[in-house]
Amino acid sequence: MGENIFNHLLGDDSLFKNRDVLHHGFTPDNLPHRENEIKTLVHNLVEALHGQMPSNMILYGQPGLGKTAVTRYVCKQLLDRGKEIGRTISAVEVNCCSIDTKYRVLAKLANDLAPDNESLVPFTGWPTDKVLQQLQQNMESQGGVHIFVLDEIDHLVKRHGDDILYPLTSLNYELRNSKCCVIGITNDLQFTEMLDARIASRLGSEDLAFSPYNASQIGDILSQRALVGVREGVLENGVIKLCSALAAQEHGDARRALDLLRVAIHKADVMGDKLVSTEHVRLAQNQLQFDQMTPVISSLPFHQKLVLYSILLNESNGLTNISTGEVFSVYQMTCNNASVTPLVSRSIGNVIKNLDSLGLVTAKTTSLGRYGRSNRINSCIPQNINAITIMTEADEAMKPVVNSTYRLQARL
Ligand SMILES: Nc1ncnc2c1ncn2[C@@H]1O[C@H](COP(=O)(O)OP(=O)(O)OP(=O)(O)O)[C@@H](O)[C@H]1O
Ligand SMILES: [Mg+2]
Repeated sequence: MGENIFNHLLGDDSLFKNRDVLHHGFTPDNLPHRENEIKTLVHNLVEALHGQMPSNMILYGQPGLGKTAVTRYVCKQLLDRGKEIGRTISAVEVNCCSIDTKYRVLAKLANDLAPDNESLVPFTGWPTDKVLQQLQQNMESQGGVHIFVLDEIDHLVKRHGDDILYPLTSLNYELRNSKCCVIGITNDLQFTEMLDARIASRLGSEDLAFSPYNASQIGDILSQRALVGVREGVLENGVIKLCSALAAQEHGDARRALDLLRVAIHKADVMGDKLVSTEHVRLAQNQLQFDQMTPVISSLPFHQKLVLYSILLNESNGLTNISTGEVFSVYQMTCNNASVTPLVSRSIGNVIKNLDSLGLVTAKTTSLGRYGRSNRINSCIPQNINAITIMTEADEAMKPVVNSTYRLQARL
């Protein structure tokens, strides 16, 4: 047997020095360009070091802007400082995407603070009031100040309403030996509109909005991570710049930039190249777009697939900026070929809106003066993604639709 087949991706040969550092789950010790956000959190949370109650906060901002990383970093520093000066402070982070019921969130908070096995809340089975009581008891027996970070809080509220937030933001009225504050993190900018006014005013007593990074800021973030995570001298000129520019186009998303760089280096590794070039970044971009869009396209409900197919078919016939009416007439033909009853034309507008919100098409409404309004619809699926193949592979019923011939009208 020759050399082990895994060897060239491991150890000395790899272009990575420490691949984990480039993973978006890694929390770095230094977060450039978030000085103001860190300062705002610090000014509020410093109260815990005085044994006082910090204000509740809501942190907003689009994905990948460092909300989770900044909060973790500040909480860690707070706990370290608390230890040094002998203050009891705890910080419990709950990701409400994965822990997404009132019971489980309260149980997680209670269990993280449980002083012993007897104080643990079981996975299910208790009335919620009892869980809340246990949480309170655990908080009191620990004493000090407790920071509850509810990350991706909008997921919880969207699914189960905001009634968990009322008791959580009321705890301070009942506690004698401890205090707490809640930090909600969300990328839904309209989050507070989902909340009861009383809860919104209690939770959002301090709001902190994270703004998108620009390309040069992302470049700094990447360069810093690359120093620790990538072997010296293997990134060709322009690699970090291209990753930063591409991520800046996507609402200044640092996670996207890290993913691009990590996947680009991985591609170079797999191809046995000694240097990472902008070509690897382009390949990484294609790969990430593909990975992101494929599940979205393949899981579309059948009629939405038909509508998307109708738009793509029109485009392949040279028609762009098509109207809802034009989509509808092709969609009716596809329904005929699929032997299904078409949705009424009114519903097609909603389907198109949904495809737009998923980032698969753009639908712009234009005014036709006294003749009303019309939609101009275009697909926005990148060229390297073959949506028709994805839909056909995901759904047998698309086969007769795709295999039929269509007599499409061209615009005069
Ligand atoms: N200023 C920064 N310096 C270094 N790394 C950063 C910075 N901002 C973000 N990152 C990194 O980018 C990635 C995404 O950041 P983070 O998870 O904090 O985003 P987020 O705002 O919480 O996004 P989401 O809303 O999707 O949860 C993480 O790996 C994080 O370490
Ligand atoms: Mg986050």
